[in-house]
Amino acid sequence: MTAQLNPRGDVAVLVPAAGAGERLGPGAPKALRPLAGEPLLVHAVRRVAAAPSVHTIVVAAPATEVEAVRAMLAPVAPVTVVPGGAERQASVAAALAAVPAGPEIVLVHDAARALTPPGLVESVAAAVRDGHDAVIPVLPVVDTVKEVDAAERVLGTVDRSALRAVQTPQGFRRSVLLAAHRSAGDALTDDAGLVEKQGIAVTCVPGSELALKITRPFDLSLAEHLLSTGA
Ligand code: CTP
Ligand code: MG
Repeated sequence: MTAQLNPRGDVAVLVPAAGAGERLGPGAPKALRPLAGEPLLVHAVRRVAAAPSVHTIVVAAPATEVEAVRAMLAPVAPVTVVPGGAERQASVAAALAAVPAGPEIVLVHDAARALTPPGLVESVAAAVRDGHDAVIPVLPVVDTVKEVDAAERVLGTVDRSALRAVQTPQGFRRSVLLAAHRSAGDALTDDAGLVEKQGIAVTCVPGSELALKITRPFDLSLAEHLLSTGA
């Protein structure tokens, strides 16, 4: 069934999905690869569309797959599909340019985090609505972390209690994300990093283990297992 987005919602979600998925091994672009019989992107968009504040979804698809992605997502939710770029940042910028007037909260969410619960979309959006310019979902780092040199010799042990692993969706006041992208220099994998460079405070909210990024074959197997247990 096609989800209905909320015409009174105040949130636009950008879904960069134009990456190749090289670390997943040879095959189709990652967002189009199957997870339990459906493309990763379908799982991701279905969950975003289930978040009640979402007004608009813009997907940045691999440039050669725009029509295929439109057809694939039509039964899932009303989405705008634009061609992505060579770097993630360019894909996000292309999607941002396609957001219509209206939503004042913009979330950026990796298609590769296909099992992200709608509740995380809502909690990030709520923190922006509460007045934070930039909001990221994070998890504590569980492994001991060492700093090493080029020869893999240990230089020291990093204080793990001060570290966080960052997920998506990352949420922004629309004007803040626009300004950050306008002045972007080097390509970063993280939109909050662009905003930090502007000197704007970035606030953390609790992330979700289900928002894991599917990067390597192991992650795909884990996601299949999680789905089979009801995620
Ligand atoms: N992405 C994008 N445009 C790019 C590169 C990445 O839209 N030029 C998107 C991916 O589709 C993914 C998200 O950014 O949803 C996070 O990137 P990543 O997990 O690195 O995916 P890929 O770049 O596809 O994977 P790899 O780096 O292994 O090739
Ligand atoms: Mg990548």
